[in-house]
Amino acid sequence: MKLAVVGGGSTYTPELVDGFARLRETLPVEELVLVDPAADRLELVGGLARRILARQGHPARVVTTADLEAGVEGADAVLLQLRVGGQAARNQDETWPLECGCVGQETTGAGGLAKAMRTVPVVLDIAERVRRVAPRAWIIDFTNPVGIVTRALLQAGHRAVGLCNVAIGFQRKFAALLDVAPEQVHLDHMGLNHLTWERGVRLGGPDGEDVLPKLLAEHGDAIADDLHMPREIVDRLGVVPSYYLRYYYAHDEVVDELRTKPSRAAEVAAMEEQLLRMYGDPALDEKPTLLSKRGGAFYSEAAVALASSLLRNSGEVQVVNTYNNGTLPFLADDAVIEVPAVVDGSGAVPLPVAPVEPLYAGLIAHVTAYEELALEAALRGGRDRVFSALLAHPLVGQYAQAEGLTDRLIAHNREHFAWA
Ligand code: G6P
Ligand code: MN
Repeated sequence: MKLAVVGGGSTYTPELVDGFARLRETLPVEELVLVDPAADRLELVGGLARRILARQGHPARVVTTADLEAGVEGADAVLLQLRVGGQAARNQDETWPLECGCVGQETTGAGGLAKAMRTVPVVLDIAERVRRVAPRAWIIDFTNPVGIVTRALLQAGHRAVGLCNVAIGFQRKFAALLDVAPEQVHLDHMGLNHLTWERGVRLGGPDGEDVLPKLLAEHGDAIADDLHMPREIVDRLGVVPSYYLRYYYAHDEVVDELRTKPSRAAEVAAMEEQLLRMYGDPALDEKPTLLSKRGGAFYSEAAVALASSLLRNSGEVQVVNTYNNGTLPFLADDAVIEVPAVVDGSGAVPLPVAPVEPLYAGLIAHVTAYEELALEAALRGGRDRVFSALLAHPLVGQYAQAEGLTDRLIAHNREHFAWA
């Protein structure tokens, strides 16, 4: 089995390789290709990847290259984890929206639109080139914003599934609180990428007993603390929103907070510098604990499970991003949603979802409309399309704000937009 990771020079890669090393029964990788244009990072990350595998006696060969076609040729799966413009671009996404009183975040709000617009054309170009040299390959997309990027890939006819670690994070957290194995915990997870709610926590299988009320009664404080939301709100909802819902439910509070502290991009850039120094140490042969300060916990487990289901036709249930196809009846079939799905060699098919309460359905529909317009803007460019997407976003909505954000988005990203 050959896997290629585009953006393989990311400081996150050791997390992924650690998963491949530990879970070789689930996913027997023979060749792992790390593709990245940044030669210096790639060499450091590639060296550590080899040592992590060797430590576990894993036989996979690790290849590093800047040549996309050579790297992905004949691959069974291609993982996309790139960041156009790096942390510097992210820093801008997190900063200028605050000038207009809007949240500055890498995937949510105006910053997320900027990221989508920089990223979609690059990802589509990569996917086209992958299709030419590895026509049977599955594309597993971690590249944010995952919902919009996955929609772009599917719309262009690629064999793609979008993946995020929010659901597996909750699964692991709840399993620990319940003192059961993670595989025992099945989530009624529903919504859009970075806009999801856990409406049930079932033991043993997708139809098992729902222990969410018990979890909230016994561990409500711990759960609410993690989300930085008041316990009272979580109790009142009776469901567990993802921490990204804080950008909606406590938008103004978050804006005030963000104005007073360094951006997440700045924190991450400092961590990356330190991580790369560590990766250069030939004595290091495991993922360093510092990596756990990044948001990507468990993404290796999620990736291994998904790749295994796709490539070994296992038919397991995974939480993924894929076409709605009637699952949420208030959305178009070609909207991309994030829900548990049966995954096998022919792709992901969502499990049925219980009727969604208006409290959540309204926001999901609203953000889906924004995502559709965001993708239009990313594909076709133009100031009017940027403005429309922003006006449609539930966190913007007013024309004066949308104008101010449009100007800033374009000014800060001109070099990435062929039309600007
Ligand atoms: C979580 C999200 C990812 C996001 C990451 C950010 O893992 O699911 O989509 O990229 O957090 O983490 P960072 O350490 O870069 O802030
Ligand atoms: Mn995510």
